[in-house]
This record gives sequence, structure tokens and C-alpha cells, in this order.
Amino acid sequence: MCGIFAYTGKKDSVPILLDGLTSLEYRGYDSAGIFVAASGAIKAVGAVNNLKAKLPATPIRGMSGIAHLRWATHGEPTEANAHPHHDCQEDIWVVHNGIIENFKELKAKLISLGHTFMSSTDTEVLAHLIEHHLREKKDLEKAVIAALNDVEGTYGIAVSSKHEPEKIIAARLGAPIVLGIGENENFIASDPTPILRHTKNVIYLRDGEVAVITPSSHHIYTLDSVRVERDEEIIDWDVEQVQKNGYDHFMMKEIMEGPEVIVNTTRGRLITDEGLSKLGGLEMVAERLRLMNRIIVVGCGTAYYAGLVGEYMLEEYAGIPVEVEVGSEFRYRKPLIDEHTILLAISQSGETADTLEAIREAKRKGALTLGIVNCVGSTIARETDAGIYNHAGPEMGVASTKAFVSQLTALALLTLFLGRQRQMSLSVGKRIAEEIKALPEKIQTILAQKDAIRAIAEKYAGSRDFLYMGRKYNYPIALEGALKLKEVSYIHAEGYGAGEMKHGPLAMIDEKFPTMAIALSDSVYQKMTSNIQEIKARKGKVIAIATEGNEEIRDLADDVIHVPKTIEMLSPILTIVPLQLFAYYFAVKNGQNVDRPRNLAKSVTVE
Ligand code: AGP
Repeated sequence: MCGIFAYTGKKDSVPILLDGLTSLEYRGYDSAGIFVAASGAIKAVGAVNNLKAKLPATPIRGMSGIAHLRWATHGEPTEANAHPHHDCQEDIWVVHNGIIENFKELKAKLISLGHTFMSSTDTEVLAHLIEHHLREKKDLEKAVIAALNDVEGTYGIAVSSKHEPEKIIAARLGAPIVLGIGENENFIASDPTPILRHTKNVIYLRDGEVAVITPSSHHIYTLDSVRVERDEEIIDWDVEQVQKNGYDHFMMKEIMEGPEVIVNTTRGRLITDEGLSKLGGLEMVAERLRLMNRIIVVGCGTAYYAGLVGEYMLEEYAGIPVEVEVGSEFRYRKPLIDEHTILLAISQSGETADTLEAIREAKRKGALTLGIVNCVGSTIARETDAGIYNHAGPEMGVASTKAFVSQLTALALLTLFLGRQRQMSLSVGKRIAEEIKALPEKIQTILAQKDAIRAIAEKYAGSRDFLYMGRKYNYPIALEGALKLKEVSYIHAEGYGAGEMKHGPLAMIDEKFPTMAIALSDSVYQKMTSNIQEIKARKGKVIAIATEGNEEIRDLADDVIHVPKTIEMLSPILTIVPLQLFAYYFAVKNGQNVDRPRNLAKSVTVE
């Protein structure tokens, strides 16, 4: 998601725009830019501070302008791709959040009409489209509306023109836009965050609406140019709350984004009828992938645990031998790598030093390196030969939640891709694709239980030790669930393969050492119930994660959290959700700072 902010009024717009961008940085920090109608534009790669560093010694001045923060989804985070984008005459400038699906056709048509483009973004097409229609309409609002009627896709935009410097035009379809109504000044933004310090009077645009603001007026129209009257609302949130979409913490906001993240990770990538996944980032190596006979997965922390789930998926459904290694250990081994080996690096930030060094080592030995990365243009994304972007949006909480859900989803897509290149049948491929599509709704049903999960977390919040156990696909989820609890509540939590209990860990169990047991109605259910009975025989408390409809487990476990049924390969994408919520509520009950846990950083760029 990107951040948009615009101002028109009687004050110098540059400090207002820069301050607004700073408050929007949680929406993206790949590049930043402003256009001030009376002075021109400045853009920079990276966060707002890089933009501030580029301001000329003689301050650029103007009483209206538009500003943008980019979270790159398609196209590297370069200065050329940074917003705002302009038309041929550099008169019309646009900032945009969303995706213009038909931009290639529109761009080809505009080029045939003589337009010249400076970037590879979809957004720039909008500026030239408005320029094209302005020649005929002679009215900026009408030209913007005509341009938007040509567009397919999603947009939240702000448009400024040198010819009418006081006027700014906004429009929304699928990406949020809110107007801020001040005293002789008005604002446009992606959300109220940058507006709140100026006014609490806002108007939320609705899909298909266009707004025209000047310092003393604001009008709203439909795309049929019909005037719309809309009352102002008073925002009673503070800035922090708005950035967190009303949640108390980014971690909770990002857990709740799980369903949306799966939709974004799979968008345009599932061909259900053919049981295929379409991964544009692998197209250039697709034929080489057919020849690969081994995969080494490398990651750290949560990303490593995602890799462990991927090992089960890829071996069972793609028939390729897989080994998984933490980045910091990979380098001390002498791995047997050749040109038929895939080194698959998993990294949310794309900057983790241990993972990056593993990639470089594998490349030196001739491996084909792939990445599953969330941050577009990050070092790992650039240094791997090909890869899959998560499209999970910025993850602000140090404890990785939505990124992990996206990593598992991307691994399922990769399994489908490689499996259907090999022995996976059409029917199995279709079943997997259909089950992937059903995941967002299934996660919603788990999130709907958040109050019950909170009650369970608060019941156990006095515990100083916790055991997490699972088997097969959910053994890595036991490890990840334990890491979540460790990270945000600082208590001792251990993840184990349940089959290991009798080889030592069972000695720890007593009434003060509770266990989280992932016991779905799957191929290892009976073994899991035996493990639960072993725990209960030692007076250990057990919270069971069970499949919806399984009521008998209530006779075994002290507390039960149900998750919907899905195929075993995808069950980790569901079982991790209650464990994320449990860790969050457990830590909040203990008064911990869940977004910024002590001693940890979001991206570990040192070895
Ligand atoms: C996960 O909650 C932690 N923040 C940490 O383990 C993280 O997953 C690890 O540092 C890897 O980070 P990356 O995905 O950005 O490479």
C-alpha cells in the first residue's frame, strides 16, 4: 500500500506535505516525492528523510501540492518510478495508490498518439491520459473524470496542475481517500493520519467518486459528473490509532490482515481450472527449474520455520528432496551444491545478513538462487536469480505474523508450480488451488474467535514456561508458535515434535508447565491424542488446536481452539493464526510492548 497526501490553502505547503509524509511512513518507505504547483517536484528513493535531504538551499514555495510514499509492488523502488508522475508538458502531476490493470494497453495507445513516458509505472499513464482528455475537455475536472472512465483497476489519486495551482482533484476506486476540511485550507490523504494535526473534520470518499478541493471549497462528483452532497465527520482517534487502523498495536492489525494478505499474495497467480500457479517472477527460469533435483531452503527465525513447512509441501507434492537450514549455520557446512540445486531464500525484509551470505555462498557453487521476499527491490530480491514477491504490504510489528502467513502461501504456490511441472496430477493441482482460494474465509472464522482466544491467553498469562508440540506439517508451527510467545512475552517457550516428548521434554511437565498441542483431525491425530494423554497423566494443562467439529477432544484437553478443515498441506496457514493471537494477548496481559519487543530489531542486517 502507498501513502498519499495533498494540501491547498494559504500556508507554505512544503513543510506541511513533508510532515504529512513522515506520519504516513508506516504505509511504505521505498520512495517519496512531492509536487508543489508553483515550484516543481522533488523525489527520492527511500524514506522521507532522503527527500528532505534533497530540498534545495533556496526553499521551494507554493500554497498547494501533492505528496506520495511508495511501497513498491511492481517495478523497482527507483527515483524514476517514484511518484508524483507527470504528463508530457510537466503540467499535470499525479500521485496514486492502487493498480491500473489495463495500463499497458492505455500506454501503447498514448505512445501511438505521441506521448513520451519517463517511467515503467502504471501511474504515469494516468497523467498522460488526463493530458489527452484535457485537450478536448478544456476543463481539468472533466479531463480527470474522462481519464478515469478509461481505467480498469484500483486507484486512490490526487491530481495537481500548474495551470490551476490552487485546485487539487482526488478520486477513489478500491483504495482509500479521505478529505480534510479546514479553515481556508483543505487536505486529501490515504487515511486521516496526516490530516488530524490540522483538522478533525473529514469526508471519506466512496468508490467511484471524484473530489475537487481549493482553499475555500470542496465538491464531490460521481464518475458520471453528478454532484454529491456528503456531511463531514469528526474523527475522534489520535494519530497513532489511525496508523494502526484503530487497533492497539501493529501486531494485532497485521494478524487481522491475514485474509487480505492471502488474497494479495495469490492475486493473479492461481489458475484453478488447470490446477496451476502462475508465478511471473519464475518465468525466466521456468525451464531450468524442470532440471532441478534438490532444494536447499535458507532462512532465519520465522522465515526458517516457514521453510520447514515448505519442506513437507515440496517433498510430498513436488517430489523434490528438500533440506532446510538457518542462514547462520549454512555457512559452516560444506553443502553439496551443483547446477541442479535450488537455493531458496525466505526473507520478509530481504536484508537479513545471515540469509544473504548463504545466497552468495550457494551462487559461488553454481546453485540457482530463488527468493520469497516481501520488500521489493531489497538486497536478497536483487541478488537472487528469480523469486516470488509476497505482496503482504509493510510489516511494522517486529514479531512477524502476516508475512509468515504469506510465506506459507507463497510456498504452496511454489509447490503447485513445481509439482505440476513434475508428477502432480490435474485433479490434485485443482484441489490444492481450490483449497488455497478458500483460505481467507477460513482465517476469518478463526479471527472471529479472537475474544475466546484472548480469554484462554489471559487464563494462562501467569505461566513462566510453555511447551508447544505438533507433528508433520504442524511441527514447524509448534516451533513458530513458541517463538511468537518468546518474542513478545519474554517467557520460556519451547517447540517440539510431539514424538520427542518421551525422549526428554516430558520430564519438564507438571501443573505449572502448560502445553499447546496442535491436534488436527489429520493423519497424525491419534498420535497427538496419545501425546496429550501423556501430558495429562503428569498433571500438565493442555490447550488443543483442533479441527472444527471435533468435540471429543474436550474430554482430553483443558481448553480447545477450533480451526476449519483444510488439506493437511495448507493446515499450517490456519493453525498459526490462533497461536499468533494467543501470543499477542498473553503478552498484552503481561504489559509487554508487543510491537517493539526488548533486544530485537525488525530486520537483522548484521551477522
Ligand atoms: C520473527 O517474528 C522475527 N522477527 C525474526 O525471527 C525474523 O523472522 C527473522 O529475523 C528473519 O527476518 P527476515 O524474514 O526479514 O529475513
